[in-house]
Amino acid sequence: MDLPTCVQASELLPSHAHIWNHSFNFINSMSLKCAVQLSIPDIIHNHGKPMSLPDLVQALPINKAKAPCIYRLMRILIHSGFFTKQKNLENEEEEEDSYSLTPASRLLLKDNPFSVTPFLLATLDPILTTPFHFLSEWFQDDRKTSFEMAHGRTFWDYAGHEPMLNTLFNNSMASDARLVTSVMIKECAGVFEGLNSLLDAGGGTGTVAKAIVDAFPPMKCSVLELPHVVADLEGSDNLVFIAGDMFESIPCADAVLLKSILHDWNDEECLKILKRCKEAIPCKGKGGKVIIIDMVLDNQKGHPESTETQLCCDMMMMAMVTGRERNEKEWEKLFLDAGFSNYKIAPILGLRSIIEVYP
Ligand SMILES: C[S@@+](CC[C@H](N)C(=O)[O-])C[C@H]1O[C@@H](n2cnc3c(N)ncnc32)[C@H](O)[C@@H]1O
Repeated sequence: MDLPTCVQASELLPSHAHIWNHSFNFINSMSLKCAVQLSIPDIIHNHGKPMSLPDLVQALPINKAKAPCIYRLMRILIHSGFFTKQKNLENEEEEEDSYSLTPASRLLLKDNPFSVTPFLLATLDPILTTPFHFLSEWFQDDRKTSFEMAHGRTFWDYAGHEPMLNTLFNNSMASDARLVTSVMIKECAGVFEGLNSLLDAGGGTGTVAKAIVDAFPPMKCSVLELPHVVADLEGSDNLVFIAGDMFESIPCADAVLLKSILHDWNDEECLKILKRCKEAIPCKGKGGKVIIIDMVLDNQKGHPESTETQLCCDMMMMAMVTGRERNEKEWEKLFLDAGFSNYKIAPILGLRSIIEVYP
């Protein structure tokens, strides 16, 4: 290939920068993880007012010889929207700027009931990032996921045998469930009103189910989960944990909830789950339904960051499990193939939607 002329070469610089940007993208994630592990959001929050660099360094559990690097860590996190920096208002003579939280870093505070920190730490744990190093090999291999290439067993098998991954993953899902459920109960109460019973299939440690029974008494809720997830969990009068396999059978209820379930599985596997759901709910005209909380691809047009997040989530499903994110057409095909007659999508959960599916 001929070397490009000077003019042609300079025209390549934006593309060059674009590639550098994508090569470095993981550094944004890792810088954020570092800040959370050092408790920087909590330390600034507990300070009660904007915090200067010397005060922050003083409060951090670090080798003080590394102090100048905290400024650089904060600089990239200001750029990515996790902190702001402003002149010290109490003493304008002071040279030093002070750091404050943003809405995004407030969502990382440990005592924020909607804290996303468990999700961040699970997503960036080496157990979940290592499979991405195997992606190209996986395309040439016959194993089902690059998770298996990296760890020698499926994600679900690993979680069932390694309490550390089980806890990390369950906490991560529970943290996600708290925020989503709170919005859902407020904005979409109609979805649950009138139901006497709900079965949350793959309902994790019961965060969603607990919030629903509290919000809609006297509804009774059951959580069907793999044995290792519900082994030590205790139910209550209106909440029962059932160890089982949703591919085998799903106990009867007025409605079955599937939050972040179908995106874990391929179409064939989803069809099996949906057919079990259909067997579990009252038939057409008797009020039965399946309530799905998952992404609907292509519904975030005009929000480039949300579209990118959805596409990343799809790659996550490809690498970790056999699943995928789906657009409305793909969802519709699944529902009709599973024998359902109708569905309704409410895109009210940010990246995710509530989909009601009727027999
Ligand atoms: C992505 S998590 C979603 C958890 C919960 N629904 C939420 O959104 O917080 C998927 C869940 O499905 C459960 N699961 C996987 N295979 C299952 C099976 N065959 N039967 C029942 N649950 C299963 C997992 O243990 C895990 O808790």
